[in-house]
Amino acid sequence: MTNYVNQNIKPLNTKINEKGNLEISGCDLTELAKEYKTPLYVMDKNTLLKMAQDYKDAFSNYPKTRMLFASKALMTGAIAQILHNCGFGFDVVSMGEIYTLLNAKIPLDNVSFNGNNKSYEELKFALENNIDHISVDNFYELELLDKVAKEQNKIQKIHLRITPGIECHTHEYIQTGQTDSKFGFDLSMLDKAINLILNDYKNLKLAGLHAHIGSQIFETQVYYDEAKIILEEIKKIKDKFNLELNEINLGGGLGITYTKEDNPPSVYEIAQVIIKSINENCERLGLEKPLLYIEPGRSLVCSAGVSLYTIGSTKEIEGIRKYIAIDGGMADNPRPSMYGAKYSAEIANKKETIKNEKVTIAGKFCESGDILIKDIELNNPKTGDILCVYDTGAYCYSMSSNYNCVLKPAMVLIEDSKAKLIIKRQTLEQLVQNDVI
Ligand SMILES: Cc1ncc(COP(=O)(O)O)c(C=O)c1O
Repeated sequence: MTNYVNQNIKPLNTKINEKGNLEISGCDLTELAKEYKTPLYVMDKNTLLKMAQDYKDAFSNYPKTRMLFASKALMTGAIAQILHNCGFGFDVVSMGEIYTLLNAKIPLDNVSFNGNNKSYEELKFALENNIDHISVDNFYELELLDKVAKEQNKIQKIHLRITPGIECHTHEYIQTGQTDSKFGFDLSMLDKAINLILNDYKNLKLAGLHAHIGSQIFETQVYYDEAKIILEEIKKIKDKFNLELNEINLGGGLGITYTKEDNPPSVYEIAQVIIKSINENCERLGLEKPLLYIEPGRSLVCSAGVSLYTIGSTKEIEGIRKYIAIDGGMADNPRPSMYGAKYSAEIANKKETIKNEKVTIAGKFCESGDILIKDIELNNPKTGDILCVYDTGAYCYSMSSNYNCVLKPAMVLIEDSKAKLIIKRQTLEQLVQNDVI
C-alpha cells in the first residue's frame, strides 16, 4: 500500500477480519452481500475523502485552482453531495447530470457543461439554472448557445474546448486529445471561432480554453505539454485579438491501479508538473497566471468502489479453462467487454489466503464477450462464494444498462463502519414503468 489512493488496488482499510472475511472500514463484505443482495456496488467514504483531500493538498500551491468532479465517472446524489461538501464543483455532460445535481440541492455556480452535441433543451435548461459556464465544442454549438443566451437575456460565460494534438498512451477508445477526435475545435479552427464570438455572438463571453487529453493516463509530461500548448494559444489570441483569456481547463485523466501491472503517478506528481508548466510558460509568454480548472473523474472515485457478486454456475473445460459465472457482468460493468479493461478480485468469504486456482470470471449476460476477468488466480472459488471486484467506483454504475432486462444493482456507502443505501436496487415495476402496451 502507498499513501496515495490511486496507487492502491484496494480501498483504504481493507483487511481480512477475525471471521476470515474481507472487510472495508469495519464493514464485513460478506455480511453486506447477505443484507443488500448481489450484485452490489459498495463505496467507501474514507477512501473517497482521502482522494478528495489529496487533490486539494496537491494543488494548494496554486490557489487559483477550481476542482470539478467529472460526474460521468459516477453520478449519484449522495456522492455528489460528499464532493460538493469537499469543495468540488462538477463537470456535467447532459441534462440528466444537471438534474441529478439540482435534485441533490447542489447549485450550478461551479459547474461546467461539456459535450460534443448538446441540444437546445439541454443548453436552455443549463442557462435557466444559472450554470457557471459552458465548454463549447463546435461551431454549431456556438450559434445555438448564442441564440439560447439571447432568448434568456444573458451574457453566458464560455470556454472553447480544443484538441491540443497530444496523444496519450492509453486505450484508443478513451483517447480524446488527439487531432482526429470527435471532441473540440482543432487549433486551426480557433481564429474563426474567436472572430465569430467577438463579432457575431454578442451573448457569449469567452473566458478560457479547455482540453482533455485522455483517460487512465500514466505519464506526467503530457500534462506539462498540454498546459504549455494552451498557454501558447492564449498568447496568440492575446496578440491577434487583444483579448487575454484568464481561465484554462486541463480536463481529467489521471490513471489508477486496477491491477499490479498498473503504475500511475500520484496526484501530487501531476499537480507539480501542471503548476511548473503554468509558472514557466506564463513567465516565458508574459501572461497573467490563469484560473486553473481540473476535472478528475476516475481517479477521484474509482478506488473507493468495489462490486460484490455471488458465484453461481461453473464450467470446466479439461485442460483449457474453468469458467465461474457471477450474477452480474457487462450490464453493471461494461468496461471489460467494451475496451478490454482489466480488474483485480478476491473471494470475500474465505478464511485461507492461498490463491490456488486459475479461473475466468464470466458474466451472466448473453454475449460470449461478457467476461469480467480472464485468467485470475482465486482462492478455491465455489458456488455461493462472494466475489469482490476492486476499483469499480468509476464508469461502472454510470455506464450500467438493463441489457437482458436485468435489474440495475443497488449501491451502498460505507461511513463510520456502517453501510447505508445510496442507490436502491431497481425493481421489476421500474423496469417496465415506461412500457406502453
Ligand atoms: C472533458 C472530460 N473531462 C474529464 C474527464 C474525466 O476523465 P477521467 O475520468 O479519466 O479523469 C473526461 C472523461 O472522459 C472528459 O471527457
